[in-house]
Amino acid sequence: MKGVKNPFLVKGYLTKELFCNREKELEVLYENVSNGIDTTLISPRRIGKTGLILRFFDYLKEKKWGESVYVDIYASRGLEDFIRMLAEAILLKFPEKTSIGKRFMHFLKGLRPLIGYDALTGEPQVQIVYHTPQERENTLKGLLDFLDMQNVPIVLAIDEFQQIAEYPEKNMEALLRTCMQQLNNIRFIFSGSRRTLMLEMFSSANRPFFASTQYLTVDKIDREVYASFIIHLFENYGKEIEREAVYEILDWSNVHTFYTQSLCNRVFAMDEFPVTAEHVRMACSDLLERNEPAFLQYRQLLTPIQWNFLIAVAKEREVRQISAQGFVGKYNIGTPANARRLVKALVDKELLLESVDKKGIVYRVYDVFLSRWLEREY
Ligand SMILES: Nc1ncnc2c1ncn2[C@@H]1O[C@H](COP(=O)(O)OP(=O)(O)OP(=O)(O)O)[C@@H](O)[C@H]1O
Ligand SMILES: [Mg+2]
Repeated sequence: MKGVKNPFLVKGYLTKELFCNREKELEVLYENVSNGIDTTLISPRRIGKTGLILRFFDYLKEKKWGESVYVDIYASRGLEDFIRMLAEAILLKFPEKTSIGKRFMHFLKGLRPLIGYDALTGEPQVQIVYHTPQERENTLKGLLDFLDMQNVPIVLAIDEFQQIAEYPEKNMEALLRTCMQQLNNIRFIFSGSRRTLMLEMFSSANRPFFASTQYLTVDKIDREVYASFIIHLFENYGKEIEREAVYEILDWSNVHTFYTQSLCNRVFAMDEFPVTAEHVRMACSDLLERNEPAFLQYRQLLTPIQWNFLIAVAKEREVRQISAQGFVGKYNIGTPANARRLVKALVDKELLLESVDKKGIVYRVYDVFLSRWLEREY
């Protein structure tokens, strides 16, 4: 890869050569999009939802399938922000020199917006003034209708979708769903990491989005597939890594994409080849040290009891019977009710990850590096 000094990305997406697998997920997404089905993408943080969406957009380009628009609403606080972010995403995708862009600008000007460009990134910024809530709702509908009328199928991916549950507008889901029902050419991808919230939104019979989409759960990448990918990338850069070192990386990072990528990135940056398991262990220590200020900050945000609970889970690596005597007794946590309260608080803060597999519920410390650090320090 020309111009990329370190092939292990720790944010975003560049090319498929630097992206590991996800072939099955791409197929499902493509099948959904081709058959007019909207998709709800769910996975814990940092497993690779955003990367998958961007990789999918690339895949659509290869297949010369329609157009795609990506909007991340993580920072949105209400409908007004949502509209602004959507308008900016459309402008970014279809600059004024394209035919859709020209039409979009014309459409936008009808809303008397202030349009500017960020001095640093050059990204478009849109500000619209509304006089009534109704105007906002009409604008949202107008934006989606505009996209729908472009004579080209469009995938609209809304990342961090769970955010709309926090909006002061309580009818946001109903509003969006009503708008969507009148569209013919737009396929939606809704992506989010708060599993319970997302499931409530899309699987409760009394919610507007009930049963309107198909779920796609993004899991960890297969260990062997990831191992081959890592070895290949090193080889492509003319570097060598021992197989044992690769497994050390995957074990330590628990095959959790972001943490695996970060550790690979660190190991690669150490510039000592062939990479051995010992090098990997040095890179791990190094990463923990670099992240220590953030870990200490977490500690400030928790009560001593919550902090101790987190340490206990880290030491166990994963806990299934979290309020059972085996665990509670071993770490002096108190009563099962205590344990349940602590779990709830820590899950809400996204410090504990609660996941469900065929055997039941399992808990881990959400941040893999924090988990390793707690294990080491206490
Ligand atoms: N298949 C992949 N191969 C290689 N790197 C990947 C892959 N998927 C994701 N990544 C990398 O892993 C990191 C985390 O991925 P990403 O940001 O897509 O996760 P996410 O699930 O969207 O997280 P969040 O919920 O926090 O937004 C990024 O650095 C990204 O570049
Ligand atoms: Mg993301």
